[in-house]
Amino acid sequence: MTELPTFRLDGKVALVTGASSGLGVRFANVLAKSGASVVLAARRTDKLREVEKAIEGEGGKAISVALDVTNSRSVTDAFQAAEGALGPVDIVVNNAGMGQSNRAIDIPETEYETVMDTNTKGAFLVAQEAGRRMIARGKGGRIVNIASVAAFEVLPGGAVYNMSKAAVAMMTRAMAREWARYDVNVTAICPGFILTDINRELFETDYGKKQIQSYPRRRLPVEADLDGALLLLCSDASRAITGTTLTVDDGQYI
Ligand code: NAI
Repeated sequence: MTELPTFRLDGKVALVTGASSGLGVRFANVLAKSGASVVLAARRTDKLREVEKAIEGEGGKAISVALDVTNSRSVTDAFQAAEGALGPVDIVVNNAGMGQSNRAIDIPETEYETVMDTNTKGAFLVAQEAGRRMIARGKGGRIVNIASVAAFEVLPGGAVYNMSKAAVAMMTRAMAREWARYDVNVTAICPGFILTDINRELFETDYGKKQIQSYPRRRLPVEADLDGALLLLCSDASRAITGTTLTVDDGQYI
């Protein structure tokens, strides 16, 4: 029998966007615990430094770089800084994103632009930069886009969010197809609702509380419920998994 796959990431460099709060903090911690050196990337570098300290306090390795995913120059600079400090990036968790909640008829053009710029263009620029570098290096890589169940299910009052995440799901397949021959695997995790800053207000309302009661398990999954999917898609265990979108929603949208 051949060796069983390992989910360890020793010797790998992993960059996590939006690592200053919510799921990104968890992703960064999990990757560091699994042996990767982690690049924490977001706009709020003061917050990143707190995450960095916590990771180092647990014996992990992390650095912080400033990143605004909506700006291609900032994306290139962040990868350059990451490479300069830790070497080429093997794994990217393309996580930065924002929510949106109002009816389609009420969404101002500026809000449309901000959501699409962050969730879709931002995810594209980060994956594009990662893909360019991974292909040039010739050693493959992993790009894990954090989409959402909103890529496939209508979230009432979230038309632009829905659109922005549906685009990320298709981007995942398109890039996976183009980069398969270079062993750059592009996948997406589609989480269901997990309590973070992006939706905290919603779940404090009566509407939000009712929504939780409508889920088959009558609960919200927690950040750690994404660990297994993350480690599968970032590790050598997913050699043949590319173009895949993996829903992790605790059954919310079955
Ligand atoms: P969050 O609001 O805590 O985290 C979002 C992160 O993205 C923050 O660190 C924020 O600073 C960063 N970010 C936003 N705009 C940025 C920009 N222009 N440049 C760099 N960083 C930027 O929310 P959460 O929940 O942790 O969201 C993370 C990802 O997971 C998002 O893409 C979100 O759409 C997705 N998601 C979240 C779900 C949930 O229930 N929490 C469900 C499905 C998907």
